[in-house]
Amino acid sequence: MTTENLITIKNLKKTHIKGKQALNIFHDLNMHIQTGNFIAIMGPSGSGKTTMLNMLGGIDKPTSGEIYFKEDRIDNLSENELTQFRAMHVGFIFQFYNLMPMLTAYNNVELPLLLTDLSKEDKIKKIKTALEIVNLSDRESHYPRELSGGQMQRVAIARAIVSNPDILLCDEPTGDLDRETANEILGVLKLLNEELNKTIIMVTHDPEAARYSKLTLHLDKGEFNQKELS
Ligand SMILES: Nc1ncnc2c1ncn2[C@@H]1O[C@H](COP(=O)(O)OP(=O)(O)OP(=O)(O)O)[C@@H](O)[C@H]1O
Ligand SMILES: [Mg+2]
Repeated sequence: MTTENLITIKNLKKTHIKGKQALNIFHDLNMHIQTGNFIAIMGPSGSGKTTMLNMLGGIDKPTSGEIYFKEDRIDNLSENELTQFRAMHVGFIFQFYNLMPMLTAYNNVELPLLLTDLSKEDKIKKIKTALEIVNLSDRESHYPRELSGGQMQRVAIARAIVSNPDILLCDEPTGDLDRETANEILGVLKLLNEELNKTIIMVTHDPEAARYSKLTLHLDKGEFNQKELS
């Protein structure tokens, strides 16, 4: 496994402003995330876990400080550059799957490829491969409403990996699933990390889910601390 830094955060400050209210989430955060890591982030509601994922994925920006993806600074990119950055490097996975209800599993997985100039054959190959990885090849013409929660999350994972991103940002990916289905999804994430060297950052409230990671960090009052799971 390589140990290069995939993400570097320098002197990051984040304040959410809402009306007259200023909410300081991060004060002066410095950290590295190495390629190939699988990090679970735990911490109280409102501590800033989703805010952090959004900044790492280029959906939200720090108030000050810098975020680097490999050597490239990403926090100061334009909206167009960020769209491109996300399309190439980042896959998002959410608690409630965020699938398009009017599209089949296959067409949901296809979405991130619509903006690319890949040939039709290449697109088909990538979609089929992604669906195979999550073991859902036999459901490609099903609509989300015709799938179970675990299957919908598999489609969402296939969509997240179809463009072969470096990093997967997962916000409570098993928060809506029963224990057994959650473990299946966590097994898929572990496989993506171990076999395909995807760097994974997963927010979770569930200590059982955190056990699938290589490192568990606890976010509280703007600081990440290593957490020992008993
Ligand atoms: N766009 C925004 N504008 C103003 N305040 C925000 C915004 N987004 C988040 N906040 C506030 O920032 C704090 C951190 O929110 P965030 O969603 O990152 O927390 P979280 O750790 O993901 O919580 P949870 O575990 O409940 O999902 C919260 O108090 C929230 O109300
Ligand atoms: Mg959250």
